[in-house]
Amino acid sequence: MRQLLKKIFPSIVIVKLKQFQLYFHHILAPLFSTSPFLARLYFACFNKSYQREQFANLSGMVAYKKRIVDNAQPSNPLLRRNIHRIEKGLIMQPLKPVFALDYIEQTQEAYFSSLNSENHQHEELLWAGAVLAKYYNVVNVEQSELLTKLVKEFEANSRVTADATHKFTPYKNSELLRSALSYQEFYDFIQVRRSTRWFKQSNVCRQKIKNAIELASQAPSACNRQPYQFYVVDKKPLVSKVSKLAIGSSGFADNIPTIVAVVGDYSFYEHERDRHVIYIDASLAAMQFMQALPTLGLSSCPLNWPELAVQDKKISKLLKLADYKRVIMLIAVGEAEEEGGIPFSQKKTSEQLTQFVE
Ligand SMILES: Cc1cc2nc3c(=O)[nH]c(=O)nc-3n(C[C@H](O)[C@H](O)[C@H](O)COP(=O)(O)O)c2cc1C
Repeated sequence: MRQLLKKIFPSIVIVKLKQFQLYFHHILAPLFSTSPFLARLYFACFNKSYQREQFANLSGMVAYKKRIVDNAQPSNPLLRRNIHRIEKGLIMQPLKPVFALDYIEQTQEAYFSSLNSENHQHEELLWAGAVLAKYYNVVNVEQSELLTKLVKEFEANSRVTADATHKFTPYKNSELLRSALSYQEFYDFIQVRRSTRWFKQSNVCRQKIKNAIELASQAPSACNRQPYQFYVVDKKPLVSKVSKLAIGSSGFADNIPTIVAVVGDYSFYEHERDRHVIYIDASLAAMQFMQALPTLGLSSCPLNWPELAVQDKKISKLLKLADYKRVIMLIAVGEAEEEGGIPFSQKKTSEQLTQFVE
């Protein structure tokens, strides 16, 4: 459409049209910002900025239903969520004699279906089986006909070893690894990561990227669903094509040896209420990824991925993303060029960033 308009009208008309559009929005926005309903109307009728996001969100909700029924992918979001809810039930104080009655049947169905799926990730199955075994071990099965029936099915069909039950079920805080790092040591380590924009033109070892992703995977995530993936682009000319799509890479895009797109996946969610979780979970993981890189001799720079339809379409095509997957940010990665400059980027003080609420 944009290209067609450019062909039909002289550029001065396009400029005038854009100015009118801005003026129109300027006049309308205050009026439509007076109530949630009018705001919705404004975005439905006069501003399509949310269109791609809403499209991805809705496609994701449809894809969720399909992936739960087909269960052909390595991870099942419903199983992960429910197993996590059960493990939280297992650490409740005091422990309830019976819990999870409203979703245990659905969880067990998802577990059996995953056991029968060829592609299912092995450790996810071990975790799910172990947590279910522990659950049946601690709840008062006789209190419920449903549980009596389900536990029989579970014992007959599950594949859980004592070893897995020990390894994948809740443990005491006192068993957690204690960090050997002091506050000052960690503070110093945090200073090591700074956004780096000038890199040596050497290839980045893929194993190092995988190691950093391994650490990223330890980040917290809502209901432990981890609805993101790291798309690593390290081959020319794709790396340059992707890097140049980021507006904020201007001037140093050609210098980036590897670009990582952190991609969120809406097909992990049944409801639109969870639409922000892909951004939150992926960003927490992205931070851990960037924090891990200096330990591997690598540096990074996060690159903004604003909501721009044209850019978004292009990157989705380059990365072959399904409609329900969204780029959340790009991260340039490489070995730092020793002489390359680093902006000072003054940080706000903890006083500025803290509000104690009483
Ligand atoms: C979400 C996000 C987007 C960013 N986008 C860009 C970008 O497009 N271009 C760029 O040069 N730096 C970008 N940065 C890097 C910031 O400029 C940098 O993090 C900030 O100045 C603090 O400096 P530091 O990372 O060295 O601590 C981005 C950082 C974040 C977290």
